[in-house]
Amino acid sequence: MLEVKNLSKHFGGLRAVDELSFKVEKGDILSIIGPNGSGKSTVFNLITGFHEPTEGRVLYLGEDITGLKPHVIARKGIARTFQHTTIYLQNTVQGNLIIAHRLRTNTGILGAIFRTSRHRQDEKQCLEKAEATADFIGLYSKRLLPASLLSQEEQKRLAIGIAIATEPQLLLLDEPMGGVTDKEMGPLMALIKKINEQGVTICLIEHKMGVVMSISNRVIVLNYGRKIAEGLPENVAKSKDVIEAYLGEDYHA
Ligand SMILES: Nc1ncnc2c1ncn2[C@@H]1O[C@H](COP(=O)(O)OP(=O)(O)OP(=O)(O)O)[C@@H](O)[C@H]1O
Ligand SMILES: [Mg+2]
Repeated sequence: MLEVKNLSKHFGGLRAVDELSFKVEKGDILSIIGPNGSGKSTVFNLITGFHEPTEGRVLYLGEDITGLKPHVIARKGIARTFQHTTIYLQNTVQGNLIIAHRLRTNTGILGAIFRTSRHRQDEKQCLEKAEATADFIGLYSKRLLPASLLSQEEQKRLAIGIAIATEPQLLLLDEPMGGVTDKEMGPLMALIKKINEQGVTICLIEHKMGVVMSISNRVIVLNYGRKIAEGLPENVAKSKDVIEAYLGEDYHA
């Protein structure tokens, strides 16, 4: 589904991502792990067009998408969440989801100004889809509340809802469990699995190893922008290099 080929991103003298290659297969839940600053978020920024690579290519469904603009890549079916959520806190849950769905309709500005019947139809459809998404992410009963009143875990759910509003085939999640308590992780993991079961391929960055081990079918480990291990979660967790660079001697899978 996705192939990253020899990808590098330099910031001045810093090699944030260094000759990285990997593939994401359809149906995967692939985790990318590694120490702080190892280049994980930069990889997502390169795939989704937020950064232009210094070198290398990104192929999506066989098409070279390297250097395309983020909205063009999004329209091709790749959605993402950010490490720091980008929801409108003063807007309601539903309002956030309506905005996300609106990005997919195309009546455009003139339709909105003249309130064409097509535009009214689109608006109605956006509302229906926003409600359906609120239900899917388990926030239907809270859809009329401002997002600022949600817990951290609920805000993470909403960010995922905003991403799936574009009906992606590939979903990139940057630390979906960040700031979430251990107790709240179960339902969030269940949501990610449910999205995957709907046929969406998932690639996630995560520090919480319990989540990585139980959710992913494959893991990639980065250190200083380079891939130091790849494979089944249980095998990666046993790798000497991974223990040394990231997990520490005390880690037991
Ligand atoms: N826009 C930028 N300009 C300059 N340096 C950057 C930029 N973005 C990232 N970096 C640097 O690139 C390196 C990789 O950063 P990145 O955010 O990809 O790491 P990460 O693996 O996601 O870390 P974390 O686990 O802390 O989120 C870091 O040293 C970071 O400071
Ligand atoms: Mg990061």
